[in-house]
Amino acid sequence: MNDSHSLNAPQSLAGLWADTRAHDFTMASEALTCCLLRTLAASKPSARFLELGSGTGLSTAWLLDGMDAGSHLTTVDNDATLLSILKRHLGADPRLTVVCADGDEFLQSLRGQRFDFIFADTWAGKYRLLDEALELLNPAGVYVVDDMLPQTNWPEGHSGKVAHLIATLEQRKDFHVTTLAWASGLILATRR
Ligand SMILES: C[S@@+](CC[C@H](N)C(=O)[O-])C[C@H]1O[C@@H](n2cnc3c(N)ncnc32)[C@H](O)[C@@H]1O
Repeated sequence: MNDSHSLNAPQSLAGLWADTRAHDFTMASEALTCCLLRTLAASKPSARFLELGSGTGLSTAWLLDGMDAGSHLTTVDNDATLLSILKRHLGADPRLTVVCADGDEFLQSLRGQRFDFIFADTWAGKYRLLDEALELLNPAGVYVVDDMLPQTNWPEGHSGKVAHLIATLEQRKDFHVTTLAWASGLILATRR
């Protein structure tokens, strides 16, 4: 088995990657992670998805590829230039709402809403406001984070934040939590 074979990437990926490289965006989620996101997304029909940290839309594209026609994805990032790339390639999809805002403020504005799937790929809902993000999940809702294994672009002191996040999630009694030392290192948590 070779887990990088036959990923069958979404059609939008080639163009998205060309623009992502041209923009020198170095924080893109890796293909294996995105492929898993798509597989998980396909298990949630007619669901509400939330992505915190859109970047140029690479993970967004894979999530959309897995989602059915009755599902909806809201994605947020505070970088309008990155979002312009995302919108150029994915903006015509009626299942997608793109928000340019500070992640903390936007996450707090969602209080009272419910989602079936959250991919937390920025500070908000991951290293900040974790409880607030988990609170948004419906029963059986899935929470996913990546970059839990050491990455070359981590700033000084970041490993302590990662260790704290892992320990915090592992201690949650209201979630089934799986850590995956695979791809960039993932945690999957499902609300019980
Ligand atoms: C790891 S990248 C997201 C990668 C993306 N999910 C992908 O698949 O390529 C993290 C993103 O968080 C965004 N970000 C950083 N600080 C933010 C903030 N305060 N509010 C919203 N987004 C923020 C960055 O602009 C960046 O695009």
